Amino acid sequence: MEHLETGSEDMTLTNRQGHPISDNQNIRTVGNRGPSTLENYHFIEKISHFDREKIPERVVHARGAGAHGYFEAYGKAGNEPVSKYTRAKLFQEAGKRTPVFVRFSTVIHGGHSPETLRDPRGFAVKFYTEDGNWDLVGNNLKVFFIRDPLKFPDMVHAFRPDPVTNLPNPERMFDFVSNSPEATHMITFLFSPWGIPANYRQMQGSGVNTYKWVNEAGEAMLVKYHWEPVKTGIKNLTQREAEEIQAKNTSHATQDLYEAIELGDFPEWELCVQLLSDDEHPELDFDPLDPTKLWDHERFPFLPVGKMVLNKNPENYFAEVEQAAFGTGVLVDGLDFSDDKLLQGRTFSYSDTQRHRVGTNYLQLPINAPKAKVATNQRDGQMAFIVDKAPGQNPHVNYEPSSLGGLHEAQKTGKDHEPAYTAKLVREKIGRPNDFAQAGDTFRKFSDEEREELIGNLVDALKICEPVIQDNMIAHFTQADPEYGRRVSEGLAKAKSDSAHISSDSARQGAEMAERSGQRTD
Ligand code: HEM
Repeated sequence: MEHLETGSEDMTLTNRQGHPISDNQNIRTVGNRGPSTLENYHFIEKISHFDREKIPERVVHARGAGAHGYFEAYGKAGNEPVSKYTRAKLFQEAGKRTPVFVRFSTVIHGGHSPETLRDPRGFAVKFYTEDGNWDLVGNNLKVFFIRDPLKFPDMVHAFRPDPVTNLPNPERMFDFVSNSPEATHMITFLFSPWGIPANYRQMQGSGVNTYKWVNEAGEAMLVKYHWEPVKTGIKNLTQREAEEIQAKNTSHATQDLYEAIELGDFPEWELCVQLLSDDEHPELDFDPLDPTKLWDHERFPFLPVGKMVLNKNPENYFAEVEQAAFGTGVLVDGLDFSDDKLLQGRTFSYSDTQRHRVGTNYLQLPINAPKAKVATNQRDGQMAFIVDKAPGQNPHVNYEPSSLGGLHEAQKTGKDHEPAYTAKLVREKIGRPNDFAQAGDTFRKFSDEEREELIGNLVDALKICEPVIQDNMIAHFTQADPEYGRRVSEGLAKAKSDSAHISSDSARQGAEMAERSGQRTD
């Protein structure tokens, strides 16, 4: 911990009005035994600010850690100049650096929950580009539980602790999952060691959703983003390893990240993209807009486009990490949305929650404000402390269009990407849901140890569930791979017979003890 030299500057304590404070130990009272008086300005300001010190936690991803760094572009996507695919300026020039802020997180539990829990890990990156901010809000795992945003609030409710007991309960989680077959792939990752990354430095990141890249001519490609921890490699934990860490340290991942950066051992990731032409790809057995699917990396290679280095810890956790606000709507020219429904639902949700969680003017806070020029006609609202205007803007003109020195629209930088649509407005699932095939592939690609751990963790969670839930889950796993279903089913049967033995053993012991002490048990 760094201690500031005292005496070199004026270290006098003041209140927030700039009044020097000569007594910070005693409130003002009638005589030294009180009562106190209501005009205690310093006390009332201090205590009422304290009373408001907390803001609402993030509704998900409440527990997190963050760091600053930079992104350095390679100027290429694989062997091609990157400009062939996107005109986004941050990628164009080899060696070009863009400042970034990254926040890692767990998802379901509260702001001080252990960092060893089985949960996806958030991996959110804010790029402060010359064209304004770009947020890439991803997770460590490359797929997601659901593909329709309408299901997200139910999913989160089911995964959270029980609303009556406030206890975590896997039965509620698997009740939802067993009725949502598209979750089978994500559950396969989550209950394997991939569901507990060893720390934040040794894990991958993924944008999960499908986005678009747009070039100068307005042509688009579908794109998926991947962060690869090239320097450290990937490390995951078994349930037992995680429990051992958790017994001694509930903040091991925050500590690991902070200490590595303090020691100058800066974490690094390479950013890779997978590109696909912008169409429906009827040759695939899944829809490329489906976030429950992987794009096979042998068929669709990972093309490196740059690297990210994290080299500075936040100076204040609350100001930078807690108030940071990322969102999938935050794109720059050359990057675009795809029609991935989950992505579109997310894009509404983030800035909506941030106006509530941080406040209307959350984008004026230094951590969220672009380093590029901001000049809008949006004004006022709670905690507005600057006017987002251009230096030469007539301060009387806060509207557009105007001939009196107001802001005007930007010149177009490239041709717009203008997808055309002709379809009925419907409420329907996408075609090719194929909920189980990739879960089976993932199961078969795991090592023997990973499969063993997966089955053990699933059996542990499912053994307390109602038979209807167990049967549905076994049916899903069997459709993914018959061995997968068989092993979960056998594990559950064994857990049932073990617990029957334990309860008949303890009933017998109870009866023997009662007999020895002369009590009746019938
Ligand atoms: C945080 C909504 C799916 C990654 C959040 C927050 C909301 C939210 C409301 C809190 C934001 C804040 O308070 O600043 C949703 C919805 C989803 C969805 C509605 C689906 C319909 C996903 C997916 C991913 C993801 C698929 C991964 C690709 C994250 C991350 C954060 C987050 C990393 C934390 C950002 C931070 O560090 O501040 N999400 N989410 N979410 N979400 Fe999602």
